[in-house]
Amino acid sequence: MTQGCEPMTNEIDRARPAEPRGRGFAADVLDGLSRPEKRLSCLYFYDAVGCDLFDEITRLPDYYPTRVETDILASHGEEMLDGASEEAALFEFGSGSSRKTEILLERAPLLSLYAPIDVCASALDNARARLAARFPHLRVSPIAADFSRPVALPRDLAEDLAGRRRIGFFPGSTIGNFAPEEARGLLLAMRLLLGPGGRLIVGVDLKKEPSRLIAAYNDARGVTAAFNLNLLARINRELGGGFDLSGFGHQAIYDERAGRVEMRLVSRRRQTATIAGRDFAFSRGEAIHTEDCYKYAVDEFRAAASGAGWLPGRVWTDAEALFSVHELTAPLQ
Ligand SMILES: C[S@@+](CC[C@H](N)C(=O)[O-])C[C@H]1O[C@@H](n2cnc3c(N)ncnc32)[C@H](O)[C@@H]1O
Repeated sequence: MTQGCEPMTNEIDRARPAEPRGRGFAADVLDGLSRPEKRLSCLYFYDAVGCDLFDEITRLPDYYPTRVETDILASHGEEMLDGASEEAALFEFGSGSSRKTEILLERAPLLSLYAPIDVCASALDNARARLAARFPHLRVSPIAADFSRPVALPRDLAEDLAGRRRIGFFPGSTIGNFAPEEARGLLLAMRLLLGPGGRLIVGVDLKKEPSRLIAAYNDARGVTAAFNLNLLARINRELGGGFDLSGFGHQAIYDERAGRVEMRLVSRRRQTATIAGRDFAFSRGEAIHTEDCYKYAVDEFRAAASGAGWLPGRVWTDAEALFSVHELTAPLQ
């Protein structure tokens, strides 16, 4: 999908991620498991199985973020995209199923170009087929890439973008998977991609009662546990790994001081797993850190966006103040 690409001009020196990411699945896994505090990147949750499990999570009663953000988009989507003419292009970062995008597209019937970016190729393929059938006038130009690294735009998309106003959509509080310094680098890169006068609509989960947060990441039906464990299953499938999945348990905790939910896989006993010919020893209770989900107060996120050169604009939230959607505008100069 990215063949015949032209490098984009948003090569910026991003903050080095705390987690092992960027050298390919095998190298990042071996690096992460060799660290004194074992760590795997949440980027690798999203193979085809992981994308399907995430979709299942979004339908769980405990997982309020999707339900609440969807309601906010349905109520205010028209305002969010006001002025989006036929010439505007919509980029989406971490588009997944593109279900939320569909809500925006229904409210901006003139929009004629949509470029979803995701690491999950199967999700991009499904979304393209569905959106093409539903919006025949819309050109859907998916990009299978890691948006936290410089993204190469396919040549024909780059040509089609000439003179178009760019709008970015970054829902799902995926921004929360990045540590604050990385999030700033990412927002800066998005500003450069969207260009002067560009707009970014970002969904951000809000700080709240820890019990509500923990329930969302440790659901009663065990779907989040299966999603977390799929990372080890993926290592077994793709790298010939020897993880015994029954030897690990899912854990989600809220670090109130840092303002983040942490997901881990905890070894239930002393054990060794062999991956690509290398042995990794685990003591009983030892954890592999798999994901951070930072939560923000509205003003904290506005300050972070300002720090990346954005002009914070309107903010939409729900009546219980569980979730927020922010409008950011890139200065003209
Ligand atoms: C939390 S899910 C959100 C999905 C959807 N946007 C929503 O709001 O329901 C994160 C999505 O972003 C994708 N993703 C996460 N990190 C990514 C990255 N660095 N580059 C590209 N895609 C990424 C995942 O594959 C997944 O589809």
